[in-house]
Amino acid sequence: MNDIEVGIIGGTGGIGEWFARFFREEGLTVHVSGRTTGMPAVEMARRCDIVIVGVPISATCDVIRLVGPLVRRESLLMDLTSLKAEPVKAMLESSTSDVIGLHPLFGPDVPSLDGQNIVLCPARGTKWLPRVKELFLSRGAKLVEASPERHDELMAFVQGLTHLNTITMGLALRDAGIPQAELEKFSTPIFRTRLACIEKIFLKNPRLYSEVIASNPHTKKITALYGDALRRLEETVRKGKAEELKRLIEG
Ligand SMILES: NC(=O)c1ccc[n+]([C@@H]2O[C@H](COP(=O)([O-])OP(=O)(O)OC[C@H]3O[C@@H](n4cnc5c(N)ncnc54)[C@H](OP(=O)(O)O)[C@@H]3O)[C@@H](O)[C@H]2O)c1
Repeated sequence: MNDIEVGIIGGTGGIGEWFARFFREEGLTVHVSGRTTGMPAVEMARRCDIVIVGVPISATCDVIRLVGPLVRRESLLMDLTSLKAEPVKAMLESSTSDVIGLHPLFGPDVPSLDGQNIVLCPARGTKWLPRVKELFLSRGAKLVEASPERHDELMAFVQGLTHLNTITMGLALRDAGIPQAELEKFSTPIFRTRLACIEKIFLKNPRLYSEVIASNPHTKKITALYGDALRRLEETVRKGKAEELKRLIEG
């Protein structure tokens, strides 16, 4: 793979920047672009062997439709989006190249690929898939293949439910208005872990988490399940009967 040029649109920040570093460490030539910096996306699309779209979810399909027609037939078009159905459809419709949807199930704070999960949605072509898999596997990643639809359905639980739960706790804490410094003095290890998750969503990247939840059509049924669970919990807790709550937990 060493003679290959990789272009990452969205490679100046976040997970795109992480993959730019990864590919460079593997000896590949990597070009990156942001909205106003780096190699223009259209130039990258015409020139690179592997073209990767790693921009915010709300901008992804527009960027794919812009660059897709310019990607060479013998090249590979991939994306890093946390949702797969719409981006993979857009890649297939706008290009003639091999297409693989990719969702790294980790953020830019992980030090290496070792032990990390990656979902692959192979969508067109057989030339690039074995090479891409070998590259990730050789660095210890765990790969799972899925259709884009199945991926999105499962992510509604894995990411949607997790983040809904964290946001609920964050909103409740904010509404309670207790100073964080005071909470920290009384904190348990699990509370500190949960606070770190809340900070990640509320302070570091609220847009990413909002789009992951709200742009996945499968999240609606999860929110309904989650709302029902909260209501049942509220009714039981209001009565102040621990035995009843225990029965609810035990099922
Ligand atoms: N962060 C994660 O933990 C993570 C994990 C897995 C998958 N993903 C997926 O990766 C994608 C990027 O997420 P991220 O968190 O890395 O985003 P990010 O930190 O906001 O970075 C996005 C990158 O896209 C560029 N960009 C922003 N808006 C753009 C636009 N309208 N058009 C073109 N480029 C634009 C930014 O460049 P400039 O700011 O320099 O313009 C930057 O290089 C999303 O689809 C997300 O679902 C993220």
